[in-house]
Amino acid sequence: MSSPDRRSFIVRESLAAVSAAAAAETAAAARDAVARDGRFTICLAGGETPRSLYRLLARDYRDVIAWGRTEICFGDERCVPPHNPQSNFRLAWSTLLEQVPIVEQRVHRILGELGPDAAAREYDSQLRRLFVEDPGIPTFDVAVMGVGNDGHTASLFPGDSALEEKKRWAAPAHAPAGVKVRERVTLTLPVLTRTRTVMFLCAGKEKREIVSRILSNAAPDLPAARILGVEKTIWLLDGAVAP
Ligand code: 6PG
Repeated sequence: MSSPDRRSFIVRESLAAVSAAAAAETAAAARDAVARDGRFTICLAGGETPRSLYRLLARDYRDVIAWGRTEICFGDERCVPPHNPQSNFRLAWSTLLEQVPIVEQRVHRILGELGPDAAAREYDSQLRRLFVEDPGIPTFDVAVMGVGNDGHTASLFPGDSALEEKKRWAAPAHAPAGVKVRERVTLTLPVLTRTRTVMFLCAGKEKREIVSRILSNAAPDLPAARILGVEKTIWLLDGAVAP
C-alpha cells in the first residue's frame, strides 16, 4: 500500500497543461490495464476542475483509449436527475462520454434521483458485480479525484458519517450547509483506497492552502489526505496551487 511519502507530483503552469498530463497518465493506465486484464476501469470526479481533462480525452484520445473495453464509474453524485445541471453524470456525459465509442452497459451511473439511501444501495450492488470482494485485489485502475476547500473529496466531507464507513462501497452522504446540493451518494474509503492509480487534480489559488495542509501531512484526517492509491497517488497541480 502507498504511504503519504509515496505521493508523486506533476506541476504544470496552467489547468490546460495539468489536464494534458492527466490525460496522458490515463491513456497509459488504460493501455496497461487492457493488456493485463482485458478491460480498463476508471472512476470519474465531479466538480469543475476535471471538465478540461474530459474534453481533452474526448478530443485527443478518442481513438487511443480502448473505450469499448472501459468501465466508467463515478466517485460521487448529487441527488438530482441525470439531466440536472448539478449532476456529475451530466458533466461527464456531455464533455466526454457522448463523444467516445463507449459501451453503454459499461457506464455505471449513480442513480441520484432515487435519493441518497436507495441510490447508495443500488450503486453498491453495481460495484459488487464489477469487482471481486478480495481486499488484496485492486478495484479501479484510475480514480480521478478533486479536492474541496474544506479537504473533501468525492462526497466524503469532514465529519460526515460516510467517511467512517468500513464495509459499504457506496454510502449516503451529506454536504455541509451552504453547498448547493446537500444530499449525495459517495464512494467510501474501503473501495477508493483499493484504486491502483489515484489522480488528484487541483487548480487555482483558492485551493493552495488546503493542498499545502494535505501535502505537508498536517491534516492526515482530512478526507483527501486519506486516499492513497495501491500503486500510485499522483497530485497534479497548477502553478497557482503548488506549494
Ligand atoms: C463533487 C465532487 C467534489 C469535487 C470537489 C472539487 O461532486 O462536488 O466530486 O469532490 O471534486 O468539490 O470541485 P471543483 O473541481 O469544482 O473545485
